[in-house]
Amino acid sequence: MSHNHKLFIETVGCQMNMLDSELVVGALRKHGYELTGDVGDADTILFNTCSVREHAEHKIYSALGRLKYSKQSRPTLVIGVLGCMAQKDQELVFQRAPHVDLVVGTGQLAEVPRLIDEARATRQRSLNVSLDRRDGTRHEVSSSFQSYDPLREPEMRPSPFQAFVRIMFGCDKFCTYCVVPMTRGPEQSRSPADIVHECRVLADQGVKEVTLLGQTVNSYRFPHDGRTWRLSDLLAAIHDIDGLIRLKFVTNYPRDMTDDLLQAVRDLPKCAQYLHVPAQSGCDDVLKRMKRGYTIGEYREMFARIRSTLPNAAVSSDFIVGFCGETEASHQKSLDLIRECRFKNSFIFKYSPRPGTKAFSLLPDDVPEDVKRRRNNEMLALQNRISAEDHAAMIGDVVEVLVEGPSRAAEKRGEIDATTGPVQLTGRTSCDRIVVFEGNPRLTGTLARIRVSDCTPTTLIGTIETREVQHGSSPLLPILL
Ligand code: SAH
Ligand code: SF4
Ligand code: F3S
Repeated sequence: MSHNHKLFIETVGCQMNMLDSELVVGALRKHGYELTGDVGDADTILFNTCSVREHAEHKIYSALGRLKYSKQSRPTLVIGVLGCMAQKDQELVFQRAPHVDLVVGTGQLAEVPRLIDEARATRQRSLNVSLDRRDGTRHEVSSSFQSYDPLREPEMRPSPFQAFVRIMFGCDKFCTYCVVPMTRGPEQSRSPADIVHECRVLADQGVKEVTLLGQTVNSYRFPHDGRTWRLSDLLAAIHDIDGLIRLKFVTNYPRDMTDDLLQAVRDLPKCAQYLHVPAQSGCDDVLKRMKRGYTIGEYREMFARIRSTLPNAAVSSDFIVGFCGETEASHQKSLDLIRECRFKNSFIFKYSPRPGTKAFSLLPDDVPEDVKRRRNNEMLALQNRISAEDHAAMIGDVVEVLVEGPSRAAEKRGEIDATTGPVQLTGRTSCDRIVVFEGNPRLTGTLARIRVSDCTPTTLIGTIETREVQHGSSPLLPILL
């Protein structure tokens, strides 16, 4: 049993990783660990890693490099590499960073407290990963990515009133560029009973906004109560929980955007009017090489269904530029799609070949780096122009915002300690638009009405609307001012 250990943890990657770090820290706190923000002060240093692009891995290997001699002065130090890169690189982590003690894959995170104790006691390296996808039956591989009871840690959340809840593990889509089906294992939905229970516990702890997580969150299916539960059923069940005021879910797979889901988002007022549905490319040839499973005609058809059921919802996307064989004409088709759909925002990535994927072994990475960079910039400029235009059209509107707390700028300036006066706060609309305004920090976790007065491509800027508010379409919370 450990006492008064000091833990430094760095997390990169997606929301799934943020959630995993929350669960690991929650477990370690129960074992007497406290968090420190100072690497030099820690006796346990963990990196929760991402392999989706080379850059993300590089960042962690550089950070590990800087710790090369740290054990000479601190012989009891334990260094652990967790998550996706651990599962993908396995022994290679020890080869590239011999001072690492622990390599723990995404399916073994529940073991972390015990593994750290063992490493400190024995000074032996240990490798803990799941089976590779071809090294067993589906059942064997799935069970080697064990799930674990959520020991949640409020301090690791984006904010005390926002929480992620995993509804699925893994991914079975096998897009040719992507490591996630390897690093997270087979697609497995969690039971509705567990998910609803977890949401209820979180609501009791004061959580107002729950974001359901899955790599393809709308592919959720689970046999329950004599039928197959889909994401729409889950949303309806979670919607009934008192205390929650907003429900979100990411990331959607275009092919699984079914009408029952769109109708649930329309009919359940707590659902954010926001859908993240990555297109990845606007060109059929590229989509085919990516093995995305849809044509751009099908994506357009899906988009039209979103627009007709949810005319006011915001839709966002991801794009990869410079994928194998992407021509100038393919690139133009992606730009056309952005012009046509007018996404709220798009996350744009330069293709990064990943060892172990189909694209890496079968398709040449034939778009030169400078072309990737130019296409990336062009796409970003177009998306920014559209986001700025759509934001400018909102100037003068009053939007309802769930207040997330002091802005990062206000935190940096140390304004959060000044509990008396107003500080710069941020929040999000139901359409997931970021809004910045002045207000009292105690508004955090409540809904506020903000009149938009200015904007940037990424942010709306406004002032709190003090007029009496009619509770029309929004039967949620009393509005605090
Ligand atoms: N499951 C989600 C996202 C997974 S990774 C989905 O299917 O949409 C997040 C984003 O990273 C992807 O949407 C894709 O745009 C990008 N990405 C994944 N692999 C990549 C690679 N090898 N190079 C560049 N970008 C990649
Ligand atoms: Fe990767 Fe495709 Fe699965 Fe998303 S759907 S995680 S991009 S394989
Ligand atoms: Fe990265 Fe793993 Fe998420 S590879 S994007 S941390 S699932």
